[in-house]
Amino acid sequence: MLRLATKNDSEWIAAIHPLWKPNSSSWVLDKKAFAIWQTASDEAELLYIAVEASERGKGLAKTLMERCHKELIAQGIKKFYLEVSETNISAVSLYKKLGYEKIAERKEYYKNGETAVVMKFSAFWDMGQAAC
Ligand SMILES: CC(C)(COP(=O)(O)OP(=O)(O)OC[C@H]1O[C@@H](n2cnc3c(N)ncnc32)[C@H](O)[C@@H]1OP(=O)(O)O)[C@@H](O)C(=O)NCCC(=O)NCCS
Repeated sequence: MLRLATKNDSEWIAAIHPLWKPNSSSWVLDKKAFAIWQTASDEAELLYIAVEASERGKGLAKTLMERCHKELIAQGIKKFYLEVSETNISAVSLYKKLGYEKIAERKEYYKNGETAVVMKFSAFWDMGQAAC
């Protein structure tokens, strides 16, 4: 079940992402995965997504992202952005699979010197249906 995260999720989400704070743009899927978004105008930025380590590789992140896209598109979001380390192969593969495309690169963006890849996904509308 997809739902907004609440204060009751603090403990288990904090175990995965210590800086997490309850806010209106965090979504939880089956208490095994969560995604944090920031929205402005018709744009959304993915701040973080994580799946519990024992639950990875089962399609949860893909399902969560697709369902967040639908919810956010219903709220008027048309463009989705995110930033990911180029060495995070699982995340980069996930985003490509969902239709995100690289639009920029930020060299030495992270403290460890790694390059950040900026990716974008545009929601297209066809006969009232979201492509995602
Ligand atoms: C990245 C992450 C969210 C993926 O979650 P997941 O539930 O395991 O991903 P899914 O099972 O939904 O996989 C969907 C697609 O992502 C890609 N993918 C996922 N894990 C992968 C891996 N280990 N290696 C390569 N591709 C991978 C594949 O394209 C996969 O599709 P496929 O199974 O048809 O090949 C998860 O590994 C995670 O929580 N990592 C730690 C936190 C993190 O790095 N978040 C991203 C910060 S930007």
